[in-house]
Amino acid sequence: MSTAHDTVLVVDFGAQYAQLIARRIREARVYSEIVPRTMPVAEMLAKRPVGIVFSGGPASVHVDDAPTVDPAIYDAGIPVLGICYGAQLLAQQLGGEVRRTGGGEYGRTVMTRAEGASVVLDAFDAEQTVWMSHGDAIAVAPDGFTVTASTPGAPIAALEDRDRGFYGVQFHPEVAHTERGQDVLRAFLFEACAARPTWTNTSIIEDAVAEIRAQVGDGRVICGLSGGVDSAVAAAIVHKAVGDQLTCVFVDTGLLRLNEAEQVEETFRRQFEVDLIHVKAGDRFLDRLAGVTEPEAKRKIIGETFIRVFEEVARDLSDARFLVQGTLYPDIVESGGGDNATIKSHHNVGGLPDDMDFDLVEPLRQLFKDEVRAVGEELGLPEDIVWRQPFPGPGLAVRIIGEITPERIDILQQADHVVVEEIRRAGLYREIWQSFAVLPAVRTVGVMGDGRTYEYPVVIRAVTSEDAMTADWARLPHDLLERMASRIINEVPGINRVAYDITSKPPGTIEWE
Ligand code: XMP
Repeated sequence: MSTAHDTVLVVDFGAQYAQLIARRIREARVYSEIVPRTMPVAEMLAKRPVGIVFSGGPASVHVDDAPTVDPAIYDAGIPVLGICYGAQLLAQQLGGEVRRTGGGEYGRTVMTRAEGASVVLDAFDAEQTVWMSHGDAIAVAPDGFTVTASTPGAPIAALEDRDRGFYGVQFHPEVAHTERGQDVLRAFLFEACAARPTWTNTSIIEDAVAEIRAQVGDGRVICGLSGGVDSAVAAAIVHKAVGDQLTCVFVDTGLLRLNEAEQVEETFRRQFEVDLIHVKAGDRFLDRLAGVTEPEAKRKIIGETFIRVFEEVARDLSDARFLVQGTLYPDIVESGGGDNATIKSHHNVGGLPDDMDFDLVEPLRQLFKDEVRAVGEELGLPEDIVWRQPFPGPGLAVRIIGEITPERIDILQQADHVVVEEIRRAGLYREIWQSFAVLPAVRTVGVMGDGRTYEYPVVIRAVTSEDAMTADWARLPHDLLERMASRIINEVPGINRVAYDITSKPPGTIEWE
């Protein structure tokens, strides 16, 4: 993309590392973009970067086909910061030596600064705790470099050549475990690169609005709302850009959480005055799901029904040419990187029929999730939507084990509401990745008052996670679990027992189906 912002490129030697670095740079209000290490240097330079960061990565510079970058990059007169693997690569390519050190260092490590000034370590004490993760280490610094810090396992833990603007750190300044790590990045950005911190929520919104207006002109735009943060923020930005040229379509599957549909109505129709089509399709979904118990069959039916419903609405809006998608930056990086994937600007979406061909509007495609939330807050979306925990497309259907009936949906909605309300009251809603209730397909015996009961149990599931790929069960306080259990049994008819799921992922999944 062409941008008026000072840009720092993060050359990707391992996607997860690169994304975290790019996020930290943007937290310092400098625009950063991830590029694949295979991108020709001329193409990188065409982005007019004011600085370049080499990310860490899992490889060793000594293996065959070790990931590398065209050394022409060092002739461009642009400051470079190498991190971990990136520092080793920089040292090796400029004439230093990297060796396998034997033990390596993993985790918190005390680093000792060398005498003398350092640009990137300016904020560091003589001894500073940093986060290390390396087997190899730089053994000989290239000519022109000064060694600025060392650790027991890395005699050259930081080095710099101020005249040429080259910096290397063996530790990871981007992780929270490195004390003052953000100061290292800030010093590189503002001292070494003289970058201007213009990447703010306001500027993100202004840029997106201008881009959407240029793309859409006076065309009509459709946006599917799910209740989740991504589609909500995407809709709010597009609405800011083109106002009543936007129609939002909210397919209410009847499988949403308690009060969720009302909240979407309240926010978009009443607060934002968006042209909103609320399709109450719960009966249709229930009819199609009648008697279905197999998880994949449920998913397939819900996916297909959703598309049919959306398609019918879209056909009535036959003049609409544009469809909003809530694609985020990590989706783009992970599907090929940088703007190579500046993707499919004209393609067919998620199973919609061929004759419904939309141009995609993707206002979030440069943003990380935390930026999407910050922009959502800036646009005035309610906290409940901006900070909403992830929710699966098939909704409560994959949390109701066995058959889905209106009664069982009602039971689960009420139990789930108690779980979420108590998690919020305990101030844990944001730090927990997902917290919800599950309704199994068994009944158990209990005793309430003088009588025997034979009712469903509810299972509480709460997990912590970074990205849903792995998850750990949340160590909720016992008194919180007790409050949830007693409220659920007292307030939700049809439940006589509450269990807590203590399975991590793997081996479990987050959802039960
Ligand atoms: P699992 O259960 O596989 O879930 O550990 C990982 C994450 O994905 C969500 N999830 C879904 N999201 N459609 C979705 O849009 C689905 O069919 C689906 N299944 C699971 C789940 O809530 C968790 O965040």
